[in-house]
Amino acid sequence: MLVEGYRVLVTASSRGLGKAIARGFLEGGAAAVTISSRDRTALDAAAKELSRVGSGSVYAVPADLTVREQAEGLVDRAHDLMGGLDSVVYVTGPPKAGRLLELSPDDWEYASRLLVLSAVWITYRAIDRLRRPGGSIVYMSSTSIAEANLDLALSTVLRTSLAGLLRVVSHEAGALGLRANMVLPGLARTDRMEALVRRTARSRGISEEEAERALTSVIPLGRAADPSEVASVVVFLASDAARYVNGATVAVDGGSMLRIL
Ligand SMILES: NC(=O)c1ccc[n+]([C@@H]2O[C@H](COP(=O)([O-])OP(=O)(O)OC[C@H]3O[C@@H](n4cnc5c(N)ncnc54)[C@H](OP(=O)(O)O)[C@@H]3O)[C@@H](O)[C@H]2O)c1
Repeated sequence: MLVEGYRVLVTASSRGLGKAIARGFLEGGAAAVTISSRDRTALDAAAKELSRVGSGSVYAVPADLTVREQAEGLVDRAHDLMGGLDSVVYVTGPPKAGRLLELSPDDWEYASRLLVLSAVWITYRAIDRLRRPGGSIVYMSSTSIAEANLDLALSTVLRTSLAGLLRVVSHEAGALGLRANMVLPGLARTDRMEALVRRTARSRGISEEEAERALTSVIPLGRAADPSEVASVVVFLASDAARYVNGATVAVDGGSMLRIL
């Protein structure tokens, strides 16, 4: 088992990629997983579902990642509930979709807390709390940090900070016996993808089926990812099998990206 006995916090995980990642750890033999999101009812339902996977314990801690005290408190609480912390997987809620001129200064301010500051808050606490040596952070980001997506201006601009954060964390925390890596999903079948399909259909005046075909036709593998296909990469990066992988950025995008450098 890849992550036998691990105690893992996955943030923003009541559904979508975060929940699939929590499931992946439980399937991989984790002893305990803490999940989190803002909506207590949805979170408890997800915890109930996940508690039937594997033999690990599942804890649910509500927290809004855009509020500093809640983000920091989440790491502390997960550590205390599980009796330690081997991995932190940083996932956050999706930012508002939109082009530059569709967004307001308030959107930028909120998205800065959602995509940048929450990562910094979680990182400081994770460095304090993770097992040394051997603990690790996996950041969930997006291919929009490598190839600008004009329809996702907030993600494109603000998530580049996460790439910078990965560099400094993997260097400084590496010296403390910790690792940090990053995963870039392309398109994965979640509520977020459905929202992007609806937006594309609206903006191009086409049906949702046509919009989905347009979004997936540029993917060499011809389809969006199942969330479990993103989760398996995250679990590998957190595991001891990846013990010499530090500071890496792994795209899980079906080969979509065309950049060379
Ligand atoms: N799906 C894709 O194709 C794709 C591709 C690239 C990158 N991503 C990124 O991956 C991340 C997860 O996406 P997803 O597709 O899994 O989205 P999703 O299905 O919409 O799930 C989002 C999760 O985040 C939680 N959340 C939202 N805002 C939060 C906040 N302020 N504090 C704490 N939790 C919050 C949600 O629960 P509550 O709303 O109840 O809090 C939910 O559990 C996003 O950042 C997204 O931009 C997704």
